[in-house]
Amino acid sequence: MSCFSSADESAHYGFSVCMLLEQYRSQLNWETDGVVELGTGDATAIGEVVNALPALRVRGFDISAPSVETARANIAARGIADRYTVELGDFFDQADSAGGPPVSTVISNPPYIPAPDRDILMPELWGGVHGNDLVLQLLKAGYDNVIAAVASYSDPEATVRTAEDHGYRVANFLAMGLDFGPYSNEPKVRRQIERICAQGRGWAGTDGYMVAVALFTRNPDVPGDRADQLLRSLQIRV
Ligand SMILES: C[S@@+](CC[C@H](N)C(=O)[O-])C[C@H]1O[C@@H](n2cnc3c(N)ncnc32)[C@H](O)[C@@H]1O
Repeated sequence: MSCFSSADESAHYGFSVCMLLEQYRSQLNWETDGVVELGTGDATAIGEVVNALPALRVRGFDISAPSVETARANIAARGIADRYTVELGDFFDQADSAGGPPVSTVISNPPYIPAPDRDILMPELWGGVHGNDLVLQLLKAGYDNVIAAVASYSDPEATVRTAEDHGYRVANFLAMGLDFGPYSNEPKVRRQIERICAQGRGWAGTDGYMVAVALFTRNPDVPGDRADQLLRSLQIRV
């Protein structure tokens, strides 16, 4: 097992989370409640955000032991261990277990690699057959605000429609094109991506795909719904 490594993707995730937290600071209430994170990785992406936002507290979880070890070292090196913690284990088993005040916002660059089974380069990145199992699980977990990365080849329309079925609107998002990296370029994964796109359930180009980090919210104080714009930014026809 190794640690997830994809500099462009992590930078886009961190930058987007920072911007969305800033933009919706008063409505999301994170200064009081903090946020939880599914999948800390090496913690560099959100470490920068914790540095940039002095009122932010993040409680992260990761199922990968090497990632947690690296994350803790990176967090300590940045001097932010009082505001960014990471625990080893499945987010869905642990996030609600500590008691204390309920947290209304979860952030995540979730695993979204689609494949017929979990036997891929980094099994912790498996997102199920269509790649969106983890984000769907997050949208069913009861948080008022879900800030999550959505990939164009991982059936994003099903993700957005499931969000709507659970009362969420897409408040805003930041989209970026990414080149296929080592995880998405694995032949078994590329074949699955081709199948998903051929079924009309996703989009990928010859060399890359799109990712958007979106704020899904059920908070009536956050106006608007950019669901169709999000899908169009991911090259999905709506
Ligand atoms: C795409 S990586 C993102 C890492 C980091 N947030 C970043 O953007 O650089 C997804 C991470 O989620 C972790 N993960 C997968 N399933 C998880 C689960 N059920 N609970 C907690 N972490 C999980 C993986 O081990 C991996 O480190």
